[in-house]
Amino acid sequence: MQKRVFKVLIFLIMMVSISSADGKKVFETYCWGCHHQSAMAFGPSFTEIASKRSAEEISAMITDPKAVSKIFGYKRNAMPKIDMKPREIEAITKYILSYKPDIKKGK
Ligand code: HEC
Repeated sequence: MQKRVFKVLIFLIMMVSISSADGKKVFETYCWGCHHQSAMAFGPSFTEIASKRSAEEISAMITDPKAVSKIFGYKRNAMPKIDMKPREIEAITKYILSYKPDIKKGK
């Protein structure tokens, strides 16, 4: 019985590490040229995005940057639409939100 609990735990830990690795990979593949984790690049940093946007807003921006950048108040839209799988969008959204400044305080 205890062995089984242990196996489930190992499995969960593996899932968590795979999904966070995925987000980083997606970032390096599609976003790195224009966004950096903590510094302003061509687009805003992930720290800044995470501090003001929800998961829904971030995925919406990735899915339809043209319309959503307008809603966010940008005068011009310079972020292109990138064709991504729903799984990749979910992974990168989580990755961005992991840069939320106060996330480690359990807020
Ligand atoms: C060609 C450059 C470019 C690429 C590639 C790019 N972005 Fe952007 N991004 C921008 C710019 C510039 C903005 C500012 C809004 C605008 O101009 O549309 C922006 C804005 C955003 C915003 C909204 C910022 C806010 O105000 O909250 C999010 C979220 C975002 N990008 C996520 C991503 C993700 C995730 C990827 C990779 C999958 C990505 N971007 C790839 C240039 C880029």
